[in-house]
Amino acid sequence: MFACVFNLYKMSDHNTSALLDTLRQVLGTPHVLTDGDLSSYEQDWRKRARGKALAVVRPANTEEVVAIVKACANAKVSIVPQGGNTGLVVGSIPNESGTQVVLSMQRMHRVRNVDADNLTITVEAGCTLQSVQDAAEKAGYLFPLSLGSEGSCTIGGNLGTNAGGTQVVRYGNARELCLGLEVVTASGEVMHGLSGLRKDNTGYDLRHLMIGSEGTLGIITAATMKLFPQPAATLTAWAAVPTVTDAVKLLGLAHQHLGASLTGFEMMNQYSLGLVNKHFPQMRIPLWNETPYCVLLENSDTESQEHARARFEHLLEVALENSCVTDAVVAENLSQARNFWHIRESITMAQAQEGLNIKHDISLSVSSIAAFVEKTDVQLAQEIPGVRLVNFGHLGDGNLHYNVQVPEGHDNAAFIKDYEERVNHLVYDAVKSFGGSISAEHGIGSLKVDTLPDYKDPTALALMRQVKQALDPLGILNPGRVVR
Ligand code: FAD
Ligand code: MLT
Ligand code: ZN
Repeated sequence: MFACVFNLYKMSDHNTSALLDTLRQVLGTPHVLTDGDLSSYEQDWRKRARGKALAVVRPANTEEVVAIVKACANAKVSIVPQGGNTGLVVGSIPNESGTQVVLSMQRMHRVRNVDADNLTITVEAGCTLQSVQDAAEKAGYLFPLSLGSEGSCTIGGNLGTNAGGTQVVRYGNARELCLGLEVVTASGEVMHGLSGLRKDNTGYDLRHLMIGSEGTLGIITAATMKLFPQPAATLTAWAAVPTVTDAVKLLGLAHQHLGASLTGFEMMNQYSLGLVNKHFPQMRIPLWNETPYCVLLENSDTESQEHARARFEHLLEVALENSCVTDAVVAENLSQARNFWHIRESITMAQAQEGLNIKHDISLSVSSIAAFVEKTDVQLAQEIPGVRLVNFGHLGDGNLHYNVQVPEGHDNAAFIKDYEERVNHLVYDAVKSFGGSISAEHGIGSLKVDTLPDYKDPTALALMRQVKQALDPLGILNPGRVVR
């Protein structure tokens, strides 16, 4: 399959240099990178794959993106849109052919507008998530999307993947936070949609088609995102829970007692926290070696700290009485709360430092998550003696990162080669049997593109292929990702 894609876009040296000349004229030579160390653009974050780009282009504005797309379409050269390159499914790097152009959005990082009355912020796609959070805060508002990668990932990438993160239980994922998009299409037209309207039923909602399309249907150049009032009080607790069933019970109590004030509900198994302890020994992790699971929960309120704290502590008392929590610590101040979140967000890095691993970003209904874990833990232990399960994630959203770390003493790369497909099928078959999804928030990329057909409704997949064909008939936008 790859071979025929390569042939389709195989260019003569003459055509290649003509395209590069055009790109240099449009962008200026310093922004068309062809030499030197391009590894930060060509290697994925997890080090699962390394590609080779024909060039990395760095446009400064939407007009330049239009010119790049037109030049590439004309030369039938494919484009890989890239933001912060923090994606976890190998979707933002070029393939190995040396024929693809990486379109890096990093230079498009202007905040175009903050509309306080409309509670919206309009930003260019290359703004890092953190810079959008900062701009919102400076204006006195909250932009709630929050991921461990927020210092590097971009709004374009967040929308491209429909990112989730740690505040979804209250504010929704990137899709729910987006009111408008500016997109450059595969033929180099601009779809102007930065209206910021909260109601607009004028036909098909193309914004939602673009969100989560992982750069395969259009290039997002700017977005209008929702803002929220900043909470007056935030409370954070770290709780020890004996089982996943108990964590689910605690979640139920949290919904009941905190209502819409529940803003975060994360679960971590002991092994995942053990990895943080091993690789970042300076972090002091509460309760982790006394309990199979820990839960991090957050309450954000508009009412006073005093009122909110009484309600939050009451919830924990009820949970202790019910025995779904065996011990808990409430952060005394902002710095302690930040430490709790820092521990949680360090799991991904600790796992990476431990070595190559197999990730499963799955979602299930909250009601079936405990049964899934119970069944699949046993199956994996039988299949792979000594398997190390890094199980953590956004339990409040029914989203687990149910990951497999290579057993102690095995060669990482050899294990992945021999076991990945088998392990994936075991986990995904179990997910399917419980009615879940094989990608909750990370997307499909190229890592799951050949697995998707086994688990996606065939009619939905056929419609997705028709959409791709209609919007990108030449197949130049991020080919080989999401659907082949
Ligand atoms: P990239 O990795 O550059 O690209 C991702 C995809 O989007 C690619 O398919 C790319 O082609 C496409 N794309 C990028 N920019 C555009 C654009 N302007 N227009 C169209 N398509 C585009 N993800 C979560 O959902 N939740 C988490 O909690 C989370 N935590 C993470 C923690 C760490 C430490 C790391 C490393 C990653 C984490 N991620 C998480 C994954 C990742 O950060 C997100 O998927 C993020 O949204 C990717 O943004 P990016 O700018 O890095 O995109
Ligand atoms: C997270 O929740 O920390 C991220 O999605 C990253 C990961 O899955 O490792
Ligand atoms: Zn996550």
